Amino acid sequence: ALYPLLAVVAAYLIGSLSFAVIVSRVMGLNDPRTYGSGNPGATNVLRSGSKAAAAVTLLLDAVKGWLPVVLVKWFGADLGLGDSTVALVGLAAFLGHLYPVFFGFVGGKGVATALGVLLGISGWLGLATALTWLIVAVFFRYSSLAALIASVFAPLYYVLCSGLVWDAEPPITAAVVVMAMLLIWRHRENIQRLMAGKESKLGKKKADAA
Ligand code: G3P
Repeated sequence: ALYPLLAVVAAYLIGSLSFAVIVSRVMGLNDPRTYGSGNPGATNVLRSGSKAAAAVTLLLDAVKGWLPVVLVKWFGADLGLGDSTVALVGLAAFLGHLYPVFFGFVGGKGVATALGVLLGISGWLGLATALTWLIVAVFFRYSSLAALIASVFAPLYYVLCSGLVWDAEPPITAAVVVMAMLLIWRHRENIQRLMAGKESKLGKKKADAA
């Protein structure tokens, strides 16, 4: 079981690259952990006022979830790696983002990385989930609410649409469900702010979501 272990450790290390922090540093912006919600994620980087930094953060945080999954899918078979390893590397990259070894284990909420993992599992699954996020975000203007609703729908899409363009595999189903539950758990403060009417809306620059 050396190859699965190596793959999972590598995925966790890639996931640990907190791109909100890295991109902000490279672009000479303030550390996203010091303003707004304090969350190292694309949504909070957007509150710096730099759409470019937010977009790059979103892209790279998604790529780090997508890459380990597709690498195992494309090249794993020769090494004896199957669906269980696909599921575990996706989860490992996601957990790296939440608990990054390079940043004192203080990471983000996992929205972009989970989306990357879903895209790696199935392009259609990722697309459906991203569209769900987008629709809620456009109508309600809350990034967190969009993520919460999308993470309820993602496992449903995966299981209920199985047999269409993908077949739900038990280990991958488990990973998708665990990711969704952890993602919701990481948004517990957002849930409180949403219920109190204090969540900051997308498109407002005010960094007051403390
Ligand atoms: O990307 C995480 C998002 O759902 C919420 O972020 O900064 O508003 O807590 P934030």
